[in-house]
Amino acid sequence: MSDGTLGYYNTADLREAARRRLPKGLFEFMDRGNDDEVAMRENRAALERIKLKPRVLVDVSRRSQEITLFGKKQKMPVIVAPTGSTGLAWYDGEIALARAAAVHGIPFTLAAGSMTALERLPAEAGGTLWFQFYMWPDRSLSHQLVARARAAGYEALVFTVDTPVAPGREYNLRNGFTVPFKFTRRNVTDVLMHPRWLVGVLMRYLVTTGMPRYRNFPAHTQTRITALPMGRSTALNDALTWDDVRELRKLWPRTLIVKGIQHPRDAVLAADCGADAVVLSNHGGRVLDSSAATITVLPQVVEAVGKRITVIVDSGFRRGSDVVKALALGAHAVMLGRAPLHGTAAAGEAGALRALQIYRDEIDRVMALIGCTSVADLSSNHLILPD
Ligand SMILES: Cc1cc2nc3c(=O)[nH]c(=O)nc-3n(C[C@H](O)[C@H](O)[C@H](O)COP(=O)(O)O)c2cc1C
Repeated sequence: MSDGTLGYYNTADLREAARRRLPKGLFEFMDRGNDDEVAMRENRAALERIKLKPRVLVDVSRRSQEITLFGKKQKMPVIVAPTGSTGLAWYDGEIALARAAAVHGIPFTLAAGSMTALERLPAEAGGTLWFQFYMWPDRSLSHQLVARARAAGYEALVFTVDTPVAPGREYNLRNGFTVPFKFTRRNVTDVLMHPRWLVGVLMRYLVTTGMPRYRNFPAHTQTRITALPMGRSTALNDALTWDDVRELRKLWPRTLIVKGIQHPRDAVLAADCGADAVVLSNHGGRVLDSSAATITVLPQVVEAVGKRITVIVDSGFRRGSDVVKALALGAHAVMLGRAPLHGTAAAGEAGALRALQIYRDEIDRVMALIGCTSVADLSSNHLILPD
């Protein structure tokens, strides 16, 4: 499309394009929730229940959605969330998505569970880079990984704490997306029926760097994707405590973010341990089903710690209006998971750019329509909350 839209007008279009391009097993792994997907639906429903209350005849001709996060100006109030295996959505997908984030002037969070070695991003993508990881049972290996991220210049460390055990994702089992990955008639047919992915992603890896691997894992555990856990990681640690956050605080001198907070008390504990920020997240409804929509917990978390540390929120934000609602409730920024990932799966860097442009346009339009010229102006006065 010569109008720059690529034919994608909203994030649902990008999701549909990703669905068509990716093998079903991979698409469902990237798109779905867990158990009965109640939390995933509720994230959306709760955002939709909040209404906007516009003020009119306000001069909005000079408006900006810029924010300052951790002392640094950024052009939009969003951040690309860590999504493991982005390199399976597109060849070098992590680099494609990170470049798009850099163009839009927002941080990109690289997941430890990526196909791309963290050391490649500063040179090949640039921009503001954050690094996310889960603490392995062998903490010293995780601490070495943190040291790598520090040496490579990552500006923030995101410690995800919401997954002490593997979530229930029955569709991965049905699709043959299991550990270790086994070739079955079903999943081989699935891949063969998606030749654009087979040729453009898998075969491209095979003829260049070989079968995709988790390149940030310690060398001795770095096996091919076919031998690694996808949905049921053996590397999860169910013995973590707040001491782990205190320990990280000593190891990591830059911005430290605890991701996966859902309780205001835990936000206070994170602040007490020296974290600079929390991400209020139910992992996009992918880990604990029937957890509350994050937007409904947001006011309590902002009340508990919003003046001490930065509050970031994610899970279910598909429209610019969703982002505006969170900012009006006191969030400092919003993380976006699936939508940029779908954009990457649909069309690589161009699709990722398009995903972020959609949010930019929508945020801008909604701010104008409600009579707001800056993020600082947004408040709950712009909202009608459900009882
Ligand atoms: C395919 C996929 C992989 C993810 N991998 C990670 C991960 O490795 N680490 C992490 O902290 N969160 C991970 N997440 C969760 C996201 O960071 C984010 O919290 C979530 O996607 C936000 O919800 P949304 O997708 O509705 O925007 C993943 C999400 C998806 C969809």
